[in-house]
Amino acid sequence: MEHRASAGKAEYLHHDVTDEQAWVEVMSAAKQRCGGLNGLVNNAGIGIAGSIVEMTLADWQRQQAINLDGVFLGIKHAIPLMRESGSGSIINLSSVAGLQGNSRLAAYCATKGGVRLLTKGVALECAQERWPVRVNSVHPGIIETPIWSTVAPGSLEPGANTVDVDAMAEQVVPTGVLGQPLDIANGVLFLASDESSYMTGTELVIDAGLSAWKFVAAGPALVAGRAVGST
Ligand SMILES: NC(=O)c1ccc[n+]([C@@H]2O[C@H](COP(=O)([O-])OP(=O)(O)OC[C@H]3O[C@@H](n4cnc5c(N)ncnc54)[C@H](O)[C@@H]3O)[C@@H](O)[C@H]2O)c1
Repeated sequence: MEHRASAGKAEYLHHDVTDEQAWVEVMSAAKQRCGGLNGLVNNAGIGIAGSIVEMTLADWQRQQAINLDGVFLGIKHAIPLMRESGSGSIINLSSVAGLQGNSRLAAYCATKGGVRLLTKGVALECAQERWPVRVNSVHPGIIETPIWSTVAPGSLEPGANTVDVDAMAEQVVPTGVLGQPLDIANGVLFLASDESSYMTGTELVIDAGLSAWKFVAAGPALVAGRAVGST
């Protein structure tokens, strides 16, 4: 509402991030309707949990296609338009699971670790080519969104392996607090803005200490008796 009051405008275009032609069309629409492109948030992602020895190749490929191929396609098609537009900031959603391993989330970790290093490689290419495009990754901890209930292995109904995020946050986040989408949106806004103009190729971790926790977790006694786990 506030943004409307200050004459802000938003437009929704539906597209599947795994479809390269759809990216071409979205970039063309951005050029025509907005006159260019200065920011891209590669946010789409799914999380398929389960044992790696039971995961089907179809589930592995579905998750890779959305979480990693989609980010590649977004980057590939945004950079030329951002260069033409004079500046750009690309923000890729990785995860704490892109910084450290998680049992029963190995395939998800593979996609998010891939996003982390794809970000750094592209940031360096842009910097060395003197293209005016910054590229950074964001690493959320445990955030209250539908991702925890919407995606399941193809063999299960959606929601069949829903996670109790309140209980998980209480158990594994150092502050005991479950994150909210706005916590992540504020970090993304910072990276999209000129306030972060000297930042590229880096990682913004927004996790209430979840990833710091791992480094002190040599044993349960060191963490005040709380069980240690991660997203
Ligand atoms: N929620 C968390 O705790 C958490 C933690 C770490 C990282 N993340 C990452 O944050 C990002 C956002 O996730 P979220 O928590 O808001 O989940 P979410 O399920 O609410 O949102 C993910 C969105 O991706 C969209 N999507 C899925 N497949 C798509 C496709 N092929 N093309 C276009 N859109 C597609 C879905 O429609 C959905 O709107 C994801 O990349 C996720 O991996 C989330």
